[in-house]
Amino acid sequence: MNIQETLKQLEDALRKDLEGVKTIEALQDIKAKYLGKKAELSLLMRHMKDLPNNEKPAFGQTINQAKQAFAKTIEAQRNRIEEALLNKKLEKETIDVTMTSPDFSQGTAHLLNQIIDEIEDLFIGMGYLVKEGPEVESDERNFEMLNLPKNHPARDMQDSFYVSEDTLLRTHTSPVQVRTMLEYGGQKPVKIICPGKVYRRDDDDATHSHQFMQIEGLVVDQNTSMSDLKGTLLAIAQTMFGKDRQIRLRPSYFPFTEPSVEVDVTCSKCDGEGCAMCKQTGYIEILGAGMVHDNVLKMSGYDPEIYQGFAFGVGVERLAMLKYGIDDIRHFYINDLRFNKQFK
Ligand code: DAH
Repeated sequence: MNIQETLKQLEDALRKDLEGVKTIEALQDIKAKYLGKKAELSLLMRHMKDLPNNEKPAFGQTINQAKQAFAKTIEAQRNRIEEALLNKKLEKETIDVTMTSPDFSQGTAHLLNQIIDEIEDLFIGMGYLVKEGPEVESDERNFEMLNLPKNHPARDMQDSFYVSEDTLLRTHTSPVQVRTMLEYGGQKPVKIICPGKVYRRDDDDATHSHQFMQIEGLVVDQNTSMSDLKGTLLAIAQTMFGKDRQIRLRPSYFPFTEPSVEVDVTCSKCDGEGCAMCKQTGYIEILGAGMVHDNVLKMSGYDPEIYQGFAFGVGVERLAMLKYGIDDIRHFYINDLRFNKQFK
């Protein structure tokens, strides 16, 4: 048989076999069938030895050309298969960038921390440092050095959890005043606020909690007066309750300040007219403050002849309750997300 014809038939057969081949595996089989050791093409080579010498080179060349052509045809099919597979994969893995994403709800700071952040920002802007102290405190710093010696009747104002005879869970953030003044050695001015948790023996109800948060403020310097205190308190009131708020100071008593005041802010609901929220008074009490008592300055190493200071202590829950009309302090601790999430 004519070699050219044989090759032509083989090539036709190959093309036919390749039609409809869709996988690389199937293609490998076809490749083995037409180009492998036992392929007809390879077997044809064996006839070479029967040919006269002068025909051998042309015969070999013909077979090799056929081999190359077959390989090329198979490769072309391989490319088509790979491209089809890739397209299929791309189609399957397409990302629709316009699709709405699943709702990953993002957490927020707890309302109490939001209030603390807001007040910290205000005071940092006025050059204050933020100081913290431990929640387990000595009786000495929590009471004695704040002018509340043992058996002082004013200790009854703050019923305490004692850990040992002279250690307790701090009843207020005021001991951080003492810590800072001692740290500064009576030598340099103090300008701090101190946020933190405090503890009192109280029966929990809508307005009482055995644990709550306070922010303490203390300024000690050589020219500090009651008017500095008043301006500072006004800044707190207006930051928390709005630029139009006014404050008034009422005489009060705290052992660590003299004079002591209680601070009221004009009611934000009725603007001072009188309503149910302010019990018709037009004012709402927000915090306690005063000029630092000489004894307190002295005990912490400051000479009251040279230094004066003012201080204040504010309840964070109280601020939040007034600002947002929250009627139960327990909401802050129950951690019901429906409550927490309202304050984004
Ligand atoms: N420590 C007081 C309390 O917890 C609040 C307070 C009042 C703090 C007057 C002060 C202050 O620094 O000057 O009831």
